Amino acid sequence: MKILVINGPNLNFLGIREPGIYGKNTFADLLQMLDAWGKELGVEVEQYQSNHEGDLVDKIQWAYGKVDGIVINPAAYTHTSVAILDALKAVCIPAVEVHLSDVNARESFRHISYAGMACEKTYAGFGFEGYKMAIEYLEGKNNL
Ligand code: DQA
Repeated sequence: MKILVINGPNLNFLGIREPGIYGKNTFADLLQMLDAWGKELGVEVEQYQSNHEGDLVDKIQWAYGKVDGIVINPAAYTHTSVAILDALKAVCIPAVEVHLSDVNARESFRHISYAGMACEKTYAGFGFEGYKMAIEYLEGKNNL
């Protein structure tokens, strides 16, 4: 089983950006954990990060026919991007949305998620652990 983990804008600044909200662990730490979880769970994990909406759309389209599941944290594009929503709908790959912070407990503009409308599940507010929960969800689905 192969899973593509996609991270959107500013997540490459984890550890630097607003540590009170996103924690002190760095993006490199997250990538290491994804690697370790992939090995632990017996899943091939490919990761992709971009600060650019069109690049994220391109990567979702690239995934068509190549991966069994998508874990996506579209970051700020969560709340604005119909293009990412449409790309997820277009490829029809089971997708799970992840947010480090509990977006529903934050500003009202973070309560709407376009990408989430094309996702089977959302894990928000669990920090890095949310990515593992998302991979496990997709793996469990695969094993059914
Ligand atoms: C985020 C939440 C978004 O509202 C924000 O724009 C981010 C990160 C999260 O992981 O908590 O960049 O997706």
